[in-house]
Amino acid sequence: MKNTKPWWLYITITFFVILIMTEYFIDSGNKIAILTEPAALLFMVIVLVILIAISLVITAVENVTYLTLSKEAKERYLEKKEAAAGWAWGKKTYQKLLGAKPIEAETEIILDHNYDGIRELDNKLPPWWVYMFYGTIIFAIVYVVRFEVYGDYTQAEEYEQQVAQAEIEIEEYKRTAKDLVDVNTVSLLTDASDINAGKTIFQANCVACHMADGGGGIGPNLTDEYWILGGGIKNVFNTISEGGRDGKGMVAWKQNLKPAEMAQVASYILTEINGKTPANPKAAEGDIWLDPNEPKASKETTPSETNNATVVLDSIAEVPNE
Ligand code: HEC
Repeated sequence: MKNTKPWWLYITITFFVILIMTEYFIDSGNKIAILTEPAALLFMVIVLVILIAISLVITAVENVTYLTLSKEAKERYLEKKEAAAGWAWGKKTYQKLLGAKPIEAETEIILDHNYDGIRELDNKLPPWWVYMFYGTIIFAIVYVVRFEVYGDYTQAEEYEQQVAQAEIEIEEYKRTAKDLVDVNTVSLLTDASDINAGKTIFQANCVACHMADGGGGIGPNLTDEYWILGGGIKNVFNTISEGGRDGKGMVAWKQNLKPAEMAQVASYILTEINGKTPANPKAAEGDIWLDPNEPKASKETTPSETNNATVVLDSIAEVPNE
């Protein structure tokens, strides 16, 4: 029995449809899902095996059924099958696009000159080529009108637009990929959601040694401006990530907390714990930490100095009135 159904074609098409669907549903960034996710790869292998199995079963069933048919039934069956093999349409279109005359009909288009037995066929231009040519003409007209007549946008504008779009996408990516932070890129988080998340992490992991209000116990007081290992978001993040000095009891939390979580708890400590007055403050340890990025003057200004400054300003302001 001639098998008119190209089974390998169905398998390939179904396989790629499923592949594209997995690609669509699995979020694998810019990479192909089956390359990054072993589970997706396994899934696709299973899909392939099942597809092959199905086609084998169908072919086998068909063959067995065919053998049991009577002679006329076999003929009728083959006839039906031939007609149903949805190829006819595709073949016809393909032939049309090629526009070639079948060999039997070549006498109609042969030209009547003859050079040493070499003769010429007056074939039409293949329609696929002609349509493409028309396509380029239409494209050219649209292009000229749009960019030369109306001046829709220039290359430079297009470039700027795409760069702006890319910048938006980078920002978006950075916001969603918070776990990319490390000690060099971490910055103080201010979103209430981050601070709350930090509070939850602090209460779950840190209060045993630092107390709920940060007043200190086994661990040092986190409310004062004295830091053993340095203050500021980068140092605090680093302490949490890498732990304290050997044997002091502060472990490296990077094994248990994600970078984003460490940034959250560090931000929580710096905004909600540091600077508050705890119930039982532990004596200060370490040194006063001054942010090197902040202008020194503002840190060292004492309240009395501020008052004096106001007085001076006031007296200056009064001069013109006198
Ligand atoms: C087992 C007790 C313990 C736990 C739990 C603990 N710490 Fe500590 N922590 C310490 C000790 C002890 C130190 C002092 C380390 C040193 O002296 O090197 C410290 C130091 C610190 C410091 C630096 C303080 C400074 O003065 O420089 C920070 C910040 C800190 N811990 C945050 C945390 C956070 C956040 C958690 C929870 C994720 C946590 N700790 C959990 C014991 C603990």
